[in-house]
Amino acid sequence: MNTTGLIAIASLLFIFAPTVTLTSEGPELKDIMQELRNNLVDISDGLLMDDFEQIARGATAIARHPKIPSAQVQLVAAELGPEMAAFKQLDNLVHDLSIEISAAASLRDRDAVISGYQSLIEGCLACHSTYKERVAAALSHATATEIPNDS
Ligand code: HEC
Repeated sequence: MNTTGLIAIASLLFIFAPTVTLTSEGPELKDIMQELRNNLVDISDGLLMDDFEQIARGATAIARHPKIPSAQVQLVAAELGPEMAAFKQLDNLVHDLSIEISAAASLRDRDAVISGYQSLIEGCLACHSTYKERVAAALSHATATEIPNDS
């Protein structure tokens, strides 16, 4: 393809990209969390049944979990204020640990998987004990106030 064709396609992508991002708001935080739980169960099952592929699948899915929709991110940020950085850091911690677990699983390194798995659960629960109730309340109030507008 010639350069002009490439430029034309590139500019089309540029024009349509914002529309795509706006319409592709994915699952909400609670749905993402329920999926993380399924992924965690995959890791546990894999460990219990010596299935390193299942461990890697679960860990990779945690690492690639969808982004929280931006409307919800704004609500969380409004609730947490300066603590938003710590919230994000716990998300990053869980992300990094899931990559470590996935790498350890590919090497069939059981000990590394186990220690990563333990830290992972601590990461999930650290965020839950500090932020889960507050954030859940902030998000559900937002939904509750939206309902009257719909009817
Ligand atoms: C950075 C913070 C954070 C981390 C890390 C985190 N969670 Fe959560 N989790 C939340 C919040 C906030 C909620 C409440 C969401 C709501 O109710 O809208 C939640 C809720 C949940 C729920 C309950 C969903 C429901 O239906 O009520 C499950 C299950 C869950 N998380 C699993 C996990 C697992 C598994 C991990 C680790 C792999 C994890 N979470 C890591 C913040 C976090």
